[in-house]
Amino acid sequence: MTQAVHASSKKTRVLTGITTTGTPHLGNYVGAIRPAIEASLDPNVQSYYFMADLHALIKSQDPARIQQSRLEIAATWLALGLDADNAIFYRQSDVPETTELMWMLACICDKGRMNRAHAYKAAVADNQAEQADDDKGITMGLFSYPVLMAADMLLFNAHKVPVGRDQIQHIEMARDIATRFNYLYKDEFFTIPEAVVDETTDVLVGLDGRKMSKSYNNTIPLFSTEKELLKLVKKITTNSLQPGEPKDADTCSLFQIYAAFASKDETAAMRVKYEEGIGWGAAKTELFEYLNGVLAAPRERYTELMQAPAHIEQVLQRGAQRARDEASPFMARLRTAVGLGRFA
Ligand code: TRP
Repeated sequence: MTQAVHASSKKTRVLTGITTTGTPHLGNYVGAIRPAIEASLDPNVQSYYFMADLHALIKSQDPARIQQSRLEIAATWLALGLDADNAIFYRQSDVPETTELMWMLACICDKGRMNRAHAYKAAVADNQAEQADDDKGITMGLFSYPVLMAADMLLFNAHKVPVGRDQIQHIEMARDIATRFNYLYKDEFFTIPEAVVDETTDVLVGLDGRKMSKSYNNTIPLFSTEKELLKLVKKITTNSLQPGEPKDADTCSLFQIYAAFASKDETAAMRVKYEEGIGWGAAKTELFEYLNGVLAAPRERYTELMQAPAHIEQVLQRGAQRARDEASPFMARLRTAVGLGRFA
């Protein structure tokens, strides 16, 4: 049995994609960016982090917005300390092997299985609610979303895929597709990827106490100016308890956001202040100062990076080269496996 030969074959391969729509917020940082950067520092891990810009085309046909978002997201990850010598950091669209593999996978993937994908089902349900045709406005891109995602993971034989809960189904689909491919073509071509969901960091609360999410419009952008940051922190919902009255830290959005950034000791000290009746104004000032302290240096780096797109381009080109150094021989092997090999 021939195993896929990868440059970093002894290490655990951790891979995740970042959809390039919208501007990164504190919830993205706590839930995805910070743990990913930490994981990339582990010498036993080879991490693959990429901008899922082909996926972005499904959601948006606004080229300027996609282009801006790709640049912002790349600058964000680098500003927050991603070491691109260590992690393989690239744009999905710079690795054309991805779409080639996607086609091979699409050809062995049951349509019926894809009918159950939740994003597709939700779109159909919306149409039915409006008594429109089931498939109104649904593109092949949306329908094939999980197959493209499977190609992302399988191309690099990822072992672990850190994602939010909403993505687990897509990883299950990738596992099914990989298993089927291995079975049909009679070899262990693909590693079966595993979803990793961190329950503790998955959800950060937003301004209104619900999950911080751009769909709820309750986010705090990571690199808003100091003034905007203060304004947003002041908008976080609290109750009507007065200064001096003891407050419940566990049900307080301010406290939860603080705890997501501060150390254990600092969090414990803040808990005592709640018990002692800290006023909301003072609690907000403390949160703002803490966040600003953490974000000030990365914000400055971010601003510099956004003014140096040529530098970012160079980093990503190098990432793409490293990714393709692995993907391209693997694709040659897969081509042969399915009957598309060279004649001589
Ligand atoms: N669909 C993922 C999301 O919206 C992004 C993504 C694309 C991804 N390809 C991936 C995540 C492969 C993990 C692995 O969050």
